[in-house]
Amino acid sequence: MLGLRSTIDNAILVNMASPYEIRVFGDPVLRKVAEDVTEIDGSLVELANDMLTTMYEEPGIGLAAPQIGISKRFFVYDLGDDEGPKALVNPVIAESDGEWLFEEGCLSVPGLHWEILRPKQIHVVGYDLDGNEVSLEADELLSRLIQHEFDHLDGVLLVDHLEGDERKAAMKTVRELFIMPPEEPEPKKRLFGGLRLP
Ligand code: NI
Repeated sequence: MLGLRSTIDNAILVNMASPYEIRVFGDPVLRKVAEDVTEIDGSLVELANDMLTTMYEEPGIGLAAPQIGISKRFFVYDLGDDEGPKALVNPVIAESDGEWLFEEGCLSVPGLHWEILRPKQIHVVGYDLDGNEVSLEADELLSRLIQHEFDHLDGVLLVDHLEGDERKAAMKTVRELFIMPPEEPEPKKRLFGGLRLP
């Protein structure tokens, strides 16, 4: 009885702890241009909450819907400041200014980081999970995070921001880590079925 009960509790816990698996480099969904969200409703709120749970578990500070296999234009984030968790639906980067070189990683390319040059400040518009219009001036880390998550909605990954030899080296690394097939298995020894030698 106790055993059964604890198995059920564990199953629920596991399910609650990680509702979604994060897609990694090589998954085609990460390369698709996502579609606009057409309805902001309870199911989107629920999905955003599940995405936040997945994101916190990694841990990460942002997660876009395509990263869990849902090709829709929205993402969640939490910088760990007083603002708390946020979601941005159908975002549009209306303006950008300045330049800032900063090291970035991505939950879909785990364990790797590159210095990426991006605009420093942005003005982003979109919707929150109540369907209200959002108009946000973002700088530094928040600006960086929003631009990174916005890229995921257009099928853009960090390596796409690199150039020349740095890009070549990065592509080689990610292919080896996430795409290369495992080594060919040893060929099976030929069997002489049925033949018996005296
Ligand atoms: Ni990312």
